[in-house]
Amino acid sequence: MNRTFKAIAVAPANIAFIKYWGQKDEELNLPFNDSISMNLDNCLTTTTVEFSEKYKNDEIYFNTQPLDKIVQLPNFVNGKEEERIIKHFDRIRKIAKINLRAKIISQNNFPSSSGIASSASGFAALTLAGIKALGLNLSEKEISSLARLGSGSACRSIPDGFVFWYKGKDHESSCAASLYPADWWKLTDIVAVVSQEKKEISSLDGHQLAKTSPYFQKRLEQLPKRIVKIKKALKIKNLKFLGETIEEEAIDLHIIAMSSKPAVFYWNGATIELMKQIRKWREDGLMGYFTIDAGSNLHIICEQKQEKEINEKLINFPGVIKTIINHPGKGAKTI
Ligand code: DP6
Repeated sequence: MNRTFKAIAVAPANIAFIKYWGQKDEELNLPFNDSISMNLDNCLTTTTVEFSEKYKNDEIYFNTQPLDKIVQLPNFVNGKEEERIIKHFDRIRKIAKINLRAKIISQNNFPSSSGIASSASGFAALTLAGIKALGLNLSEKEISSLARLGSGSACRSIPDGFVFWYKGKDHESSCAASLYPADWWKLTDIVAVVSQEKKEISSLDGHQLAKTSPYFQKRLEQLPKRIVKIKKALKIKNLKFLGETIEEEAIDLHIIAMSSKPAVFYWNGATIELMKQIRKWREDGLMGYFTIDAGSNLHIICEQKQEKEINEKLINFPGVIKTIINHPGKGAKTI
């Protein structure tokens, strides 16, 4: 009889209000700064992991295709996906003191072409399914730290709702925890997809280049104040306060990217046109605020009572290919 250990986990992507940009430790994915995010209930990865003696190697499938046959992967980093996942599973095997290989089947509920190139949901689901399959009893904090080793932002997809990633000073202390549950504030994140192409520079490369920007230190100096503002906005549920701060923060990230050496441009023409338009819509009472990760797509944060009206405007805006509506989501769970 073959020994088999199996688990299934589902994890959300997350959108950062305060961004993680720049790594203090590239091996451990330790960030220079704390960050804050909201889980997205409509951008989920479901991952099944089965460890068994019948597998001679780790077998990885993404949306039913073997990983090594996929050239363009939406939610793992360029080319090195397989290596990165196997390395992550080696960490889990080491903790469990087991040497079994696994079959890993990962599936996104959002279209692969949506341009949401986040590995956060991918590595959060992978980590949770892996440790649960092997019966490891880790705390949420420990699971979050472990997920971080796969992809930094994945640590924020483990806890529920609105999440704070404490930058920490070593592997154990760099982990995320929930600030508020998903039902704390009826917010919406409408992803406005303006490009479905894989970004030319991965976040991984972007992190490494960040330090070469003359404005990188300046940004770090600004962050403590900005973090206090976001925490306060979440506490008192003040959209204007939250929105103005996330826009300032997103622009800052891109200033760092554009002033890195070599410069990295993530925006396209539609990104800029839409940023300007969102500000105009606010003058007409449509209170949406943008944030942008390391890509050209915008995330428009608004209150749920205005999501329909804002979504309507977005889908009719030239350059917007499609939108995806998200509400605050729970953290990673086994199913
Ligand atoms: C700009 O290294 O976690 O989204 O592995 O590509 O998902 P991926 O990225 P990761 O960096 C994320 C950078 C960011 C900001 C953020 O999510 O905090």
